[in-house]
Amino acid sequence: MDGKTILITGSTDGVGRYVAERLAANGARIIVHGRDRTRGEALVERIAARGGKARFLEADLSSLAEVRSLASAVERDVDRLDVLVNNAGIGFAAGDHGRELSADGVELRFAVNYLSGFLLTRLLLPLIEKSAPSRIVNVSSAGQQAIDYSDVMLTHGYSGARAYRQSKLAQIMFTIDLAEELAGRNVTVNCLHPATFMNTTMVRLSGAQPVSTVEEGGEAILQLVDSPALAGRSGLYFSGMRESRADPQAYDRGARSKLRALSFDLVGPADPPRARV
Ligand SMILES: NC(=O)c1ccc[n+]([C@@H]2O[C@H](COP(=O)([O-])OP(=O)(O)OC[C@H]3O[C@@H](n4cnc5c(N)ncnc54)[C@H](OP(=O)(O)O)[C@@H]3O)[C@@H](O)[C@H]2O)c1
Repeated sequence: MDGKTILITGSTDGVGRYVAERLAANGARIIVHGRDRTRGEALVERIAARGGKARFLEADLSSLAEVRSLASAVERDVDRLDVLVNNAGIGFAAGDHGRELSADGVELRFAVNYLSGFLLTRLLLPLIEKSAPSRIVNVSSAGQQAIDYSDVMLTHGYSGARAYRQSKLAQIMFTIDLAEELAGRNVTVNCLHPATFMNTTMVRLSGAQPVSTVEEGGEAILQLVDSPALAGRSGLYFSGMRESRADPQAYDRGARSKLRALSFDLVGPADPPRARV
């Protein structure tokens, strides 16, 4: 990991924080991201105290404007990005007081768990490609539900669980779609269910009993970040350490292109200049 620069979204807590600390201990330069400056800076200090290198960037991913500022800050601060881990997310029970919207009027879990990562990845693609061989890792979940394209914003039949699950499947569909687009460009993109009910804030707030550890899920993420066995392999979904199959909608090309079109409509211009010509 020496000399590698890695951005992990949502690394102020949970499995993202664990992965940040592990990668820093292995010599990577870490960009810690979150919306809580105090916890972000505390993690940077802890990493530095152990001889690692890290900086903190703050952005609330429920705002597309803040996603754009985050991408600009990354481009300003570093000259390479070897790995982007889209990990930030909100669960389905925390704050589940009915349907909520992002700053841009998008259903909140779709916005934070999926759309922010879609936009961030697209904005950072030139830097990621410049750093090739490079990797994108999307932290999804085994909790998946097919997207109903007649009501993606869940104006009918809303539940926090449904919102969470469709956002997690959207991340997987994005992974497969982007992997196809990036074929031959030396950038891989894979996704995973890290582990079931890890002992994190998200799970504790949901009232569920933790059944796995943060370390377990962290190892699964680290495998996608740096395993030599995965060099050049792209568009894959892992359940923990094992390659697996996602919801059938992920393998439906038509459904994936609908999601791509909808996502560009929602975020506006997001392609790197080369892809736009
Ligand atoms: N825990 C599990 O068992 C499990 C299972 C399957 C998949 N996952 C996935 O694993 C990932 C990490 O989850 P976790 O369990 O580690 O949860 P967590 O401990 O709750 O951490 C979530 C991270 O995302 C950040 N975040 C949430 N909303 C944000 C926003 N609007 N803007 C910026 N940052 C935001 C949080 O920041 P704050 O601390 O400020 O809230 C925190 O740093 C998620 O994508 C989750 O869906 C988890």
